[in-house]
Amino acid sequence: MSAPKRLFIKTYGCQMNVYDSERMAETMGAQGYVLTDKADDADMVLLNTCHIREKASEKVYSDIGRLTKLKNAKPDLKIGVAGCVAQAEGAEIQRRAPVVDLVVGPQAYHRLPEMMKQVDAGHRALDTDFPTEDKFEHLPKIRTRSAPAAFLTVQEGCDKFCAFCVVPYTRGAEVSRPVERLLREARDLAARGVRELTLLGQNVNAYHGTFDGESWGLGRLLREMAQIEGIERLRYTTSHPNDMDDDLIAAHGDCAKLMPYLHLPVQSGSDRILKAMNRKHTAEQYLRLIERIRAARPDMVLTSDFIVGFPGETDEDFEATMDLVRAVGYGMAYSFKYSARPGTPAAEKAPVPAEVADERLQRLQALLTVQQRAVQQSMVGREVTVLYEKPGRLEGQMAGKSDYLHAVHVHDPEGKAGDLVRVRITEALQNSLTGERIVS
Ligand code: SAH
Ligand code: SF4
Ligand code: F3S
Repeated sequence: MSAPKRLFIKTYGCQMNVYDSERMAETMGAQGYVLTDKADDADMVLLNTCHIREKASEKVYSDIGRLTKLKNAKPDLKIGVAGCVAQAEGAEIQRRAPVVDLVVGPQAYHRLPEMMKQVDAGHRALDTDFPTEDKFEHLPKIRTRSAPAAFLTVQEGCDKFCAFCVVPYTRGAEVSRPVERLLREARDLAARGVRELTLLGQNVNAYHGTFDGESWGLGRLLREMAQIEGIERLRYTTSHPNDMDDDLIAAHGDCAKLMPYLHLPVQSGSDRILKAMNRKHTAEQYLRLIERIRAARPDMVLTSDFIVGFPGETDEDFEATMDLVRAVGYGMAYSFKYSARPGTPAAEKAPVPAEVADERLQRLQALLTVQQRAVQQSMVGREVTVLYEKPGRLEGQMAGKSDYLHAVHVHDPEGKAGDLVRVRITEALQNSLTGERIVS
């Protein structure tokens, strides 16, 4: 038998891409490829790309540039581009980068085996269809990964069309996977030692899968997954405020396995900007929603995404964002400078001057950092539950996540990945917490 071929995958962007990369690795595994963590060793390099901001997309072309040199030295090297840039600019990539052998969109990667046949026969392959068949049903059934925490994509695509965003174009319309298949996949993961599941979707709380002709929302799906033996923790991301229905909010109060952490992007605190962004809710409605969520689960840690410098954003609009941040008190948040994306409605509008946007971003990030530190500091002295994921950097140490998704390091020479332990937090460091195991 010939030696297995080596595949290197580089993943950019969101967790959905992380999930897709794992599934692509499994699909390629069935074709005789094993993963390597060094591009230099690889027989095939796959870039799983992100199109969300200009910078993210540009990285792809600079990576292709570097790979060109590698391919010159090693002509048999195969280069593939997957993900959202592949979807948005597939033909352009083929034109600009003759070294790229294969371009595959996020909805077509179950067809990788056939595409590889073309590539091996010396042709270039491109598939950026949104096929009607269910990609997940055509992927290998056996999941190879068995870390204690795993992702599970339950919903894909987005119908919201926020004025700045490429996702509805790169990922297509909202589709929910059927309940039964998800429960089967979750049970399979639990049997492989997974104890924490994060349900993924571009708009995960718009989930509406069918079961026995009935439509299930995300709350119901989470409650059902909580019944699976071995699954101890559930999370989901990313949610849209308008899809937080009563049942999902209630689940945060009555489903003990649902963790008290919620990423609920708001983007801006100005009603004028929210309207221009096509977010379809006001700042006040968002704040009321946060109140209801905290009424169901008082210790909820909230996180968000923000865009500053959206076209037309005035100083007053930006101050409204700062006010909203002060009103909520976030545990963590991502903030971005608006990036005009080709084909989106907002890209037609006059931009805010770069230096104004830079200054706003700095002020917002400074406020968010203060809040993040405050929440980390508030954990000191508290008892949390930690799921160990891997050994820590220090001898005898384990690293894992708390209920609130904080990274926690615990000195525990007996500890092993997959243990779910009670821990008292003793110290808040820059990027993680330290704690000691409570032995009962
Ligand atoms: N589906 C998720 C987020 C998807 S993109 C949601 O609705 O929240 C992740 C984040 O990238 C967004 O929340 C937004 O803050 C940011 N983003 C998206 N498009 C952007 C753009 N054109 N410029 C800057 N940031 C952007
Ligand atoms: Fe993009 Fe808006 Fe959809 Fe989120 S909800 S993926 S920001 S269009
Ligand atoms: Fe990026 Fe596509 Fe995710 S654009 S954020 S990889 S859905």
